Amino acid sequence: MVTPGRSGGPGVADLTVGQPAVDALPLEEMAEAARAALPGNPRALLYTQTEGAPELIDVVRAKLRHYEGLDLDRDQIAITSGSSQALDIVLRTFTDLDGPLALDDVSYGAIPARRLTSCVDHIPFDDDGPQPDAVARHARALDRPFVFYTMPTFQNPMGLTVGMARRRELLEVCRAEGVPILEDDAYYELRYDGERVPSLLELDGGSGLVVRTGTFSKILGAGIRLGWMASAAPLIDRVLRLKPDGGTSPFASAIAARFMQDHMETQIARVRAFYRDKRDLTTRALDRHLRGRATWRTPEGGFFVWITFDPSWDVAAMVRECAARGVRVRSGADFRVDQDPRHSVRLAFSHAEPQAIEQGVAVLGEVVAEQ
Ligand SMILES: Cc1ncc(COP(=O)(O)O)c(C=O)c1O
Repeated sequence: MVTPGRSGGPGVADLTVGQPAVDALPLEEMAEAARAALPGNPRALLYTQTEGAPELIDVVRAKLRHYEGLDLDRDQIAITSGSSQALDIVLRTFTDLDGPLALDDVSYGAIPARRLTSCVDHIPFDDDGPQPDAVARHARALDRPFVFYTMPTFQNPMGLTVGMARRRELLEVCRAEGVPILEDDAYYELRYDGERVPSLLELDGGSGLVVRTGTFSKILGAGIRLGWMASAAPLIDRVLRLKPDGGTSPFASAIAARFMQDHMETQIARVRAFYRDKRDLTTRALDRHLRGRATWRTPEGGFFVWITFDPSWDVAAMVRECAARGVRVRSGADFRVDQDPRHSVRLAFSHAEPQAIEQGVAVLGEVVAEQ
């Protein structure tokens, strides 16, 4: 809902959440998929195997084959309750009790990590992504093994995509130092332009160094609570020991599988076009209201734009001032375990209405102009 007032007034725009847009939810097709998937299918209302419903595992395999040419066996994939559950059980497998964990310089991972361990470090970035030397230094300085949780594609919050050369360097260092990689790929399907870059999982060639997580939240809807993880079969087995739930909802899985069998390509094309438009209107608004006063780069995919300000400005005060004028953005502090905002805010363009994005960016522009 958009309520104009002074600078747009209270309740102008919530640009904090990485939710899908209501207009991108395939509600009718999902209802048809439910009608097609449930009659005569008692398995949808019984417990399933811990690794999840076979038909949804096959859908993930088909998706990886179709979009990435990646062929995985059934035992290399497990279905989870959102990718959040996959992240949780992979992190708990590797961090043991309060064990060490390394995250990207700023990372969505700071949110689950805070709950699981007090021993978290951030790996510095340069323009190409996480610095391989920093990973190596970290490995040598620590006396215990650790997992590197990274988001090389449409990084949340920075929007950056790590190129091929840097991906290979990171894999080389992690292999040499024995550092397992958790590759969080929540936005992989949502590429708006630029060339596809193979995932770390694909580049690793199935050695078991990488566990990759993905989700149906962004392409179908977050309420379906379905995600997946993929790796070498023994590692999937090991991580599944921490999954306590008698299999992720066979009910939701049956419906999602049917939906994807019937509509995968059209739905993915539709959400790509839909969010590409929203990204473009967001960056046009940024050009109008913040050009010359802040820096950002146009993300090739995903849901977020990362905006960086003059280091002398007080980001926390700016975020508070935006909120007082009805616009909510996330401070960079939310993505660091030490709460350092990195002179930046994250703006989510996925969920808000176009008019709210326009007004929200205008308010941010006013606050910036007052610094
Ligand atoms: C980078 C990233 N990973 C994982 C998730 C978790 O998503 P879900 O549990 O809905 O799959 C999100 C949600 O916003 C995300 O942005």
